Amino acid sequence: MLKSRWSQSAMPVALTCVGALGLGATALLWQPRPVAAQANTDLYVKTVQPIFANNCYRCHAGENHRGGLQIDTKARLLKGGKDGAVIVPGHPEQSLLVALIRHEGPADDPMPMPPKSKISDADIAAVTAWIKAGAVMPD
Ligand code: HEC
Repeated sequence: MLKSRWSQSAMPVALTCVGALGLGATALLWQPRPVAAQANTDLYVKTVQPIFANNCYRCHAGENHRGGLQIDTKARLLKGGKDGAVIVPGHPEQSLLVALIRHEGPADDPMPMPPKSKISDADIAAVTAWIKAGAVMPD
Protein backbone atom coordinates (compact mmCIF):
# COMPACT_ATOMS: atom_id res chain seq x y z
CA MET A 1 0.00 0.00 0.00
CA LEU A 2 2.69 2.46 1.04
CA LYS A 3 4.84 1.46 -1.87
CA SER A 4 2.15 2.03 -4.47
CA ARG A 5 1.23 5.41 -2.97
CA TRP A 6 4.88 6.43 -3.28
CA SER A 7 5.01 5.51 -6.89
CA GLN A 8 1.71 7.20 -7.70
CA SER A 9 2.18 10.53 -5.97
CA ALA A 10 5.77 11.11 -4.88
CA MET A 11 7.53 9.90 -7.98
CA PRO A 12 6.05 12.44 -10.42
CA VAL A 13 6.87 15.19 -7.90
CA ALA A 14 10.41 13.90 -7.55
CA LEU A 15 10.83 13.71 -11.32
CA THR A 16 9.49 17.23 -11.72
CA CYS A 17 12.03 18.43 -9.17
CA VAL A 18 14.89 16.70 -10.98
CA GLY A 19 13.65 18.17 -14.26
CA ALA A 20 13.49 21.68 -12.82
CA LEU A 21 16.98 21.32 -11.36
CA GLY A 22 18.25 20.14 -14.71
CA LEU A 23 16.74 23.13 -16.48
CA GLY A 24 18.14 25.45 -13.86
CA ALA A 25 21.61 23.97 -14.19
CA THR A 26 21.41 24.18 -17.98
CA ALA A 27 20.42 27.84 -17.78
CA LEU A 28 23.32 28.52 -15.39
CA LEU A 29 25.81 26.78 -17.66
CA TRP A 30 24.69 28.35 -20.90
CA GLN A 31 23.52 31.86 -20.20
CA PRO A 32 26.48 33.60 -18.59
CA ARG A 33 28.98 32.54 -21.24
CA PRO A 34 27.86 34.62 -24.22
CA VAL A 35 27.19 37.54 -21.87
CA ALA A 36 30.69 37.33 -20.39
CA ALA A 37 32.28 36.95 -23.84
CA GLN A 38 30.36 39.99 -25.05
CA ALA A 39 31.48 42.08 -22.10
CA ASN A 40 35.01 40.93 -22.72
CA THR A 41 34.87 41.83 -26.42
CA ASP A 42 33.63 45.27 -25.38
CA LEU A 43 36.64 45.60 -23.10
CA TYR A 44 38.88 44.93 -26.07
CA VAL A 45 37.06 47.14 -28.57
CA LYS A 46 36.48 50.09 -26.24
CA THR A 47 39.61 50.05 -24.12
CA VAL A 48 42.41 47.71 -25.17
CA GLN A 49 42.39 48.20 -28.93
CA PRO A 50 42.66 52.01 -28.62
CA ILE A 51 45.65 51.54 -26.28
CA PHE A 52 47.31 49.26 -28.84
CA ALA A 53 46.39 51.57 -31.72
CA ASN A 54 47.81 54.65 -30.01
CA ASN A 55 50.96 53.08 -28.63
CA CYS A 56 51.86 49.97 -30.60
CA TYR A 57 50.35 49.86 -34.10
CA ARG A 58 53.02 52.05 -35.68
CA CYS A 59 55.48 49.21 -35.11
CA HIS A 60 53.20 46.16 -34.83
CA ALA A 61 50.35 46.53 -37.31
CA GLY A 62 49.66 46.71 -41.04
CA GLU A 63 53.01 46.51 -42.79
CA ASN A 64 54.95 46.81 -39.55
CA HIS A 65 56.14 43.79 -37.65
CA ARG A 66 58.99 44.76 -35.40
CA GLY A 67 60.23 41.79 -33.45
CA GLY A 68 58.21 39.63 -35.86
CA LEU A 69 55.06 40.73 -34.04
CA GLN A 70 51.77 42.15 -35.29
CA ILE A 71 48.93 42.74 -32.85
CA ASP A 72 46.18 44.19 -35.02
CA THR A 73 44.22 40.98 -35.54
CA LYS A 74 43.40 38.06 -33.28
CA ALA A 75 45.29 35.55 -35.45
CA ARG A 76 48.40 37.73 -35.57
CA LEU A 77 48.37 38.52 -31.87
CA LEU A 78 47.94 34.85 -30.91
CA LYS A 79 50.72 33.83 -33.30
CA GLY A 80 53.16 35.98 -31.37
CA GLY A 81 56.57 37.29 -32.38
CA LYS A 82 60.08 36.04 -32.93
CA ASP A 83 60.13 34.64 -29.39
CA GLY A 84 56.82 32.82 -29.79
CA ALA A 85 53.56 33.49 -27.96
CA VAL A 86 53.34 36.94 -26.35
CA ILE A 87 50.04 36.44 -24.52
CA VAL A 88 48.68 33.49 -22.55
CA PRO A 89 44.92 34.09 -22.25
CA GLY A 90 43.89 33.92 -18.60
CA HIS A 91 47.47 34.31 -17.40
CA PRO A 92 48.88 37.82 -17.60
CA GLU A 93 51.73 36.76 -15.32
CA GLN A 94 52.89 34.32 -18.04
CA SER A 95 52.42 36.79 -20.89
CA LEU A 96 55.56 38.32 -22.38
CA LEU A 97 53.52 41.28 -23.63
CA VAL A 98 52.51 42.17 -20.06
CA ALA A 99 56.07 41.88 -18.75
CA LEU A 100 57.28 44.17 -21.54
CA ILE A 101 54.63 46.88 -21.12
CA ARG A 102 55.25 46.82 -17.35
CA HIS A 103 58.94 47.28 -18.20
CA GLU A 104 59.65 44.16 -16.18
CA GLY A 105 61.02 42.08 -19.03
CA PRO A 106 64.56 41.87 -20.46
CA ALA A 107 66.27 45.25 -20.86
CA ASP A 108 67.54 44.53 -24.38
CA ASP A 109 66.07 41.54 -26.28
CA PRO A 110 63.13 41.93 -26.43
CA MET A 111 63.11 45.41 -25.04
CA PRO A 112 60.50 47.04 -22.79
CA MET A 113 57.49 48.18 -24.86
CA PRO A 114 56.96 50.76 -26.19
CA PRO A 115 60.76 51.04 -26.44
CA LYS A 116 61.12 54.71 -25.50
CA SER A 117 58.19 55.34 -23.19
CA LYS A 118 55.83 53.58 -20.82
CA ILE A 119 52.05 53.55 -21.12
CA SER A 120 50.02 54.71 -18.11
CA ASP A 121 49.37 52.46 -15.12
CA ALA A 122 45.65 52.57 -15.98
CA ASP A 123 46.39 51.34 -19.51
CA ILE A 124 48.66 48.59 -18.21
CA ALA A 125 45.93 47.56 -15.75
CA ALA A 126 43.33 47.45 -18.55
CA VAL A 127 45.49 45.26 -20.79
CA THR A 128 46.31 43.00 -17.84
CA ALA A 129 42.63 42.67 -16.84
CA TRP A 130 41.67 41.87 -20.43
CA ILE A 131 44.25 39.07 -20.70
CA LYS A 132 43.22 37.74 -17.28
CA ALA A 133 39.60 37.61 -18.50
CA GLY A 134 40.66 35.42 -21.43
CA ALA A 135 41.88 37.99 -23.98
CA VAL A 136 38.66 37.70 -25.98
CA MET A 137 38.67 39.79 -29.14
CA PRO A 138 36.73 39.80 -32.41
CA ASP A 139 38.25 37.77 -35.25
C1 HEC B 1 58.90 52.29 -32.05
C2 HEC B 1 58.47 50.96 -32.40
C3 HEC B 1 57.74 50.13 -31.39
C4 HEC B 1 56.62 50.45 -30.66
C5 HEC B 1 55.87 51.78 -30.63
C6 HEC B 1 56.24 49.24 -29.94
N1 HEC B 1 57.12 48.23 -30.22
FE1 HEC B 1 57.02 46.34 -29.55
N2 HEC B 1 58.75 45.87 -30.51
C7 HEC B 1 59.51 46.76 -31.25
C8 HEC B 1 60.77 46.14 -31.61
C9 HEC B 1 61.89 46.80 -32.43
C10 HEC B 1 60.73 44.84 -31.07
C11 HEC B 1 61.83 43.79 -31.10
C12 HEC B 1 62.72 44.08 -29.90
C13 HEC B 1 63.87 43.13 -29.71
O1 HEC B 1 63.92 42.12 -30.37
O2 HEC B 1 64.73 43.42 -28.85
C14 HEC B 1 59.44 44.70 -30.39
C15 HEC B 1 59.07 43.57 -29.72
C16 HEC B 1 57.87 43.44 -29.05
C17 HEC B 1 57.44 42.24 -28.37
C18 HEC B 1 58.23 40.94 -28.27
C19 HEC B 1 58.05 40.09 -29.50
C20 HEC B 1 58.94 38.87 -29.42
O3 HEC B 1 58.47 37.79 -29.84
O4 HEC B 1 60.07 39.00 -28.97
C21 HEC B 1 56.22 42.51 -27.81
C22 HEC B 1 55.35 41.57 -26.98
C23 HEC B 1 55.89 43.88 -28.15
N3 HEC B 1 56.90 44.41 -28.89
C24 HEC B 1 54.74 44.51 -27.75
C25 HEC B 1 54.50 45.86 -27.94
C26 HEC B 1 53.35 46.54 -27.42
C27 HEC B 1 52.23 45.86 -26.64
C28 HEC B 1 53.48 47.85 -27.76
C29 HEC B 1 52.58 48.98 -27.39
C30 HEC B 1 52.26 49.13 -25.97
C31 HEC B 1 54.72 47.99 -28.53
N4 HEC B 1 55.31 46.74 -28.60
C32 HEC B 1 55.16 49.15 -29.09
C33 HEC B 1 59.14 48.04 -31.60
C34 HEC B 1 58.06 48.74 -31.08
